[in-house]
Amino acid sequence: MEKYFAEKIKIHLNDDDFDIVFLDSTDSTNTYAKRLAQNGAKEGTAVIAKSQSMGRGRLDRSFLSLPSKGIYLSLVLRPDFPVAEINSVTLLSAMAVYDTIFELTGKKPQIKWPNDVYLNGKKICGILTESSVNANHRADYIVVGVGINISHSPDDFPDELKKIATSLLIETGVDYDISESVAKLLKNFKKYYKDFPDNKKQMLSEYSERLYCLDEKICVIGLDNSYEAILKGIDDNGYLKVLTLDGEEKNVIGGEISIRPL
Ligand code: BTN
Repeated sequence: MEKYFAEKIKIHLNDDDFDIVFLDSTDSTNTYAKRLAQNGAKEGTAVIAKSQSMGRGRLDRSFLSLPSKGIYLSLVLRPDFPVAEINSVTLLSAMAVYDTIFELTGKKPQIKWPNDVYLNGKKICGILTESSVNANHRADYIVVGVGINISHSPDDFPDELKKIATSLLIETGVDYDISESVAKLLKNFKKYYKDFPDNKKQMLSEYSERLYCLDEKICVIGLDNSYEAILKGIDDNGYLKVLTLDGEEKNVIGGEISIRPL
């Protein structure tokens, strides 16, 4: 990786809490960061790659990671909070992505619960959180992986993604500097993470207001069933609150469930 890319992030970031590991290319920065974490990497280790050959998403999906077109970043965390809070790290990261996109572009994205960020109705970012839990039911480490499409033109996306994915360049006409965007993202992440879980209630209430499809009809897709409902927000645990069409309030717990607008 060119030195300027690494140096530029450090200059923009100016924060010793992050240890940045730069890679030209790797299979997946999450896989790489997990390996580092297993070997004792400290909290704040951030693995950044110019490209990934096997970028991974939730539900075994792949994440398109073209060279120098996006942010492919995985952060090692070693929080001292119970396992139950791990899901909130994904939500907190989505908040940081939201703020970063808003600061860069002045445009308000939306958060598709739990882990995607949308801009103008198309996916611009995905987040993949992976963790290892120890015998005391605490997180040994968490790796939060963030992929943001920055410089893609429409032709960069394969046909199956053209209608559902976008980039900052496509939405604004501006080719944003990746180093500067990474630095902003890490700063925004720290803003939420340093006060977590004390700030959880406030963070979740802001997250709720930023939801994609809030108060709209969605389809909740589970492993063996799916149903239509109105999306009403998220509860104090970060679970999705929906109102089914026969008036029943339900909480949707993450895992194998995804939602789509109708
Ligand atoms: C999703 O779309 O479900 C999540 C996508 C997460 C992609 C990021 S890119 C950096 C990190 N490395 C990976 O392999 N995945 C995450």
